[in-house]
Amino acid sequence: MTQDELKQAVARAAIDYVAEGEIIGVGTGSTANFFIDELGKIKDRIKGAVASSEATAARLKSHGIPVFDLNEVERMSVYIDGADEIDHSGAMIKGGGGALTREKIVASVADRFICIADESKLVDVMGRFPLPVEVIPMAAKAVGRALAHLGASPVLRSKDGRPYVTDNGCHILDAAGLQIDDPKALERQINQWPGVVSVGLFAVQGAAVCLLGTAGGVRTLAF
Ligand code: A5P
Repeated sequence: MTQDELKQAVARAAIDYVAEGEIIGVGTGSTANFFIDELGKIKDRIKGAVASSEATAARLKSHGIPVFDLNEVERMSVYIDGADEIDHSGAMIKGGGGALTREKIVASVADRFICIADESKLVDVMGRFPLPVEVIPMAAKAVGRALAHLGASPVLRSKDGRPYVTDNGCHILDAAGLQIDDPKALERQINQWPGVVSVGLFAVQGAAVCLLGTAGGVRTLAF
């Protein structure tokens, strides 16, 4: 099976977690895109969705799925999204697609985070994937120095030769070289640095379930 077929399989399996008549939180990225396409097929069974990025909002709308502003929604039973890495406790690295801050905000309003990922994303210790940190542009150098102090090699993300700009008008540092033995502690530590908008560690509020696409089928990991 190709990686895309594994992503498609978990996207299909995630439909079982979508409650009838509800608004659901929807993530960003290639796996989330497969999920949105599946959601389009059952759109008459849901009330709508809250999007974690402009790209996701556009894809949801292209399927005719109503997109709600998070300020209109008090709670959601599920938030469904991919991950760049997930460990055996349900902690994740996210933000490879640049949407980490809105992903964290939307996920925080949902009762359960359902992670959909192909098996390459499951790791014993996170950190091989560079940790994304969204920053206020003027803080990029200062936060970069603080990350280097932790032993990381941070790089300012760029696109077309310019700093990458998030949906929130901010920049992203990708911090390579970390071995993340205590994801919750690291998330709390980086979160409190001035200029950090959010860190792509989802550990304090991690996944409740991971639907993992493997060659042998979709495995369900509950945390
Ligand atoms: C987007 O900002 C990310 O958090 C994605 O959820 C994550 O990068 C996984 O993306 P893929 O599904 O494309 O691997």
